Amino acid sequence: MTRWNVYVTNEIPQPALDLLAEHCDIEVNREGRVLSKPALLEKIRGRDAVLCLLTDLIDTEVLKAAAGTKIFANYAVGFNNIDIPSATELGIMISNTPGVLTDTTAEMAWALLFSVARRVAESDRYTREGKFEGWGPLLFLGQDVMNKTMGIIGAGRIGLSFAKRAPAFAMKVLYTGRAPNLQFEKETGGQFVNLETLLKTSDFVSIHTPLLPETFHLIGEKEFGLMKKTAILINTSRGPVVDELALVKALKSGEIWGAGLDVYEWEPKLAEGLSKLDNVTLCPHIASATIDTRTKMGLIAVSNILAAMKGELPPNCLNPEVYKK
Ligand code: DGY
Repeated sequence: MTRWNVYVTNEIPQPALDLLAEHCDIEVNREGRVLSKPALLEKIRGRDAVLCLLTDLIDTEVLKAAAGTKIFANYAVGFNNIDIPSATELGIMISNTPGVLTDTTAEMAWALLFSVARRVAESDRYTREGKFEGWGPLLFLGQDVMNKTMGIIGAGRIGLSFAKRAPAFAMKVLYTGRAPNLQFEKETGGQFVNLETLLKTSDFVSIHTPLLPETFHLIGEKEFGLMKKTAILINTSRGPVVDELALVKALKSGEIWGAGLDVYEWEPKLAEGLSKLDNVTLCPHIASATIDTRTKMGLIAVSNILAAMKGELPPNCLNPEVYKK
């Protein structure tokens, strides 16, 4: 079998690069930053496959420049960075890395919730700054998580994994999505409600929906107005699902109590004023960032490329209609 020529747009865990290098000739962008559009266009030319990241915008221009490339293997479960219809039209397969990061991402959503509810990041800053002068009855009063109502937007794999942990805190689970999901209800005891009811009645709201035209700004000014003043919003999905300027307003005015964010509307930029607020915990899109999970993501991305190289349908191909035996 001829070795494929593969471009990797950024460094990923070494075991994945080693596996790829065993079977293919590879070039890796080792500059430690996202390639500019002109650099990406130049680097992908003449490759059999490209292993790309969610920070690479794979639009029609890039796909057209990749004539002859059989597959773009995205190192992420999300694929809103890739124009799939365009890839399909051009006969290029696209794959992602579902499954392996489900529980890791769900754990991070819980970490953010606890951080905001119990003011962990805020009080950590206070303590480091030398402001701690002794135990105080009113110092950093937060919110209990136990016995509260958890509202989950998006009952897919990650939403389910997140919800499954709620009974450990004796929480009631509400969820919303396109349609009721009986498996979700069976595994979590969750109750399907519409978005409005979920926002009005939940103490905490966690977003687990992909970014689609219909989920862009799903949560904005009107929705913050429906939420409890004590509510906490968690977002580990994609930034543009939340209108970030409206979020800053709601957090400043006390319309909601706090937010835990791993993703941002204009990532890596933050909306004006967000970083000045104490009632938010802000993380740099690290929900899947454990050594195990990021390694598995790399191995899955590579396995998709290797399958394509062998003439097989890549296991996580998002547009299988392009596949030709
Ligand atoms: C994804 O995979 O889509 C996450 O956002 C990063 O792991």
